[in-house]
Parts: sequence; C-alpha cells; structure tokens
Amino acid sequence: MDLKIDGKIAIVTGAGNGIGRGIAKRLAEERATVIAADLNGTDAERVIAEITATGGKGLALQTDATDEQAVSNMVRHVMEAFGQIDILVNNVGGGSSSALIINLPAEDWDKTIGVNLRSTFLCSRAVAREMMPRKRGRIINIASISGKIGESLIGAYCAAKFGVIGLTQVMAKELGRYAITVNAVCPGYVWTPGWQQLAQWLKDNFSTMADKSLEQIFEERVKAASPLGRPQTAGDVASLVAYLVSEEAQSITGQAINVDGGAVMH
Ligand SMILES: NC(=O)c1ccc[n+]([C@@H]2O[C@H](COP(=O)([O-])OP(=O)(O)OC[C@H]3O[C@@H](n4cnc5c(N)ncnc54)[C@H](O)[C@@H]3O)[C@@H](O)[C@H]2O)c1
Repeated sequence: MDLKIDGKIAIVTGAGNGIGRGIAKRLAEERATVIAADLNGTDAERVIAEITATGGKGLALQTDATDEQAVSNMVRHVMEAFGQIDILVNNVGGGSSSALIINLPAEDWDKTIGVNLRSTFLCSRAVAREMMPRKRGRIINIASISGKIGESLIGAYCAAKFGVIGLTQVMAKELGRYAITVNAVCPGYVWTPGWQQLAQWLKDNFSTMADKSLEQIFEERVKAASPLGRPQTAGDVASLVAYLVSEEAQSITGQAINVDGGAVMH
C-alpha cells in the first residue's frame, strides 16, 4: 500500500530511543522528512544518522517537550527550515516513579503529568497553529493501554494517559473543520529503556521478583496480560502510526487504538 507520505514533514518527539525511534525510522522509510526531537540531543542525532545512512531525510533537534519556550523554538526552527509541518507524533512519555497514590509525592505526580500530558498539549497546540491555515495535518498521540484501565502503583501515569486520550478527543473535535485528524495509539508491552527502568523498580521492590532477570519480569508480565502472549515491537506501533498519518486514514479521527496483543479490548 502506498501511504503517500512522500515528502511530508513529520516531527516525532522522544525519537531518540524506543518506540519513538521506531516511528521515526518507519516514517523515514515511507519517505517523509523526519525531525527527531529529543531531550537527549546525542540520541536524536544517532537516529537521524541511522535514517540518512539508509537514504532517508531528517533533522535532529535537542528539545524539552515539557518546556513551552523550547517547544515554540522547535516549531519555529522547523517552519524556517521546511516551511510546513504535516505530521506530529507526540511520543514523549513514561512514568517517573511507581507508588500507591497515598504514598506518591506531589513532585512525582507533577513530573509524570508533565512528561506525558503537558508535553502533548504544548506540542499539539504549537503545531496545530501552523497546520490550521493549510487545512491539513495529522497528529498522533502515543498514549497507552494504561490510559484505558487504571492499574495500582502507576496512578499518575494512568491519569496522564487517560488525559492524553481525552485531549485527543477534544482536539479531534476542535480541529476537524481544518481537516486535521487527531488520534491516539495505545501500545501494550514494548521492551524499551523505559520498560527496563520499570522492571528494575519491580525487581527492587517485590521479593517475588528479586531473583528474576529484568527480561524475565517483562516476559512474564506480557504472557499473563494478553491473548497473543507475546510482546509488541516498536515496529508494530510504528505500522499503525504510518497508516494513521497516511491519506488512507482520512476518515479516522478522535480514536484511541490499542497495539497490545489483545490485552485490552476497548
Ligand atoms: N514501552 C512500552 O511498553 C510502552 C507501553 C505503553 C505506552 N508507551 C508509551 O510510548 C512512549 C515511548 O515509550 P518508550 O518506552 O519508547 O520510552 P523510552 O523511555 O524508552 O524513550 C523515551 C524517549 O523520550 C525522550 N524524552 C524523555 N523526556 C523528554 C522530554 N521532556 N522532551 C523530549 N524528549 C524526552 C527520552 O530521552 C527518550 O529518548 C511513551 O509515551 C510511553 O508512555 C510505552
């Protein structure tokens, strides 16, 4: 299927690692020009080097997606360099800590809401302002199945991802008249630096997991959680993103679609 995103200008936040890296590389394979925006500029540059080494096009930008001024600078930079933004993938996110709500420090709450929800708000707002006059655009928010079902110990993360899905619906309604679609993609279990940190936390805090390797903790969680019983890859998530940003998906907006092996069925 020709997704017809050849020559489109796509920003992917948090593109330096994990799922964001997979999305950036997939969109570049589909011949979009990819701006890899990451807090870690070295990681962003490495991904762009991987893209250009295989004939793709892109630009690395060191950006803090939770910082209003930095986001504004990022959008100005891309507009000056390319004159348009066709695609935004809000991929930055993750959990800062795991605790029962009664023990959760307010700073951890703020940090988790910031990196998942504030970043999505700031980037979407800034990019939508540039998309609206052109009456076209695609915004994808990487949420989570934790944005569909509350789980103990990751309350701030769940609240943030529920918020991301809510924001997706609001922006889909507000931007529909400009032919801009806004959708959320909800990954299940992808082995990334983010998940490695979570596995380490589980190992350190649960005696039943103390003797297990981090990979074992991850694999057992995956087997228990989903009918397909296997983890997802960054490529699995990227395939859905590539479809949703294409012309083929022009009638899909305001949705939150799971890529999770069937772990959650709504
Ligand atoms: N890994 C999973 O199983 C899983 C499951 C569901 C949802 N998700 C979601 O997918 C997204 C990516 O997850 P991942 O596991 O690949 O994450 P990761 O931690 O492996 O990578 C995140 C990237 O974002 C960058 N980053 C962090 N804060 C930033 C900021 N403020 N500004 C710019 N860049 C920043 C990091 O430097 C890193 O390169 C997140 O939104 C996460 O919540 C992941």
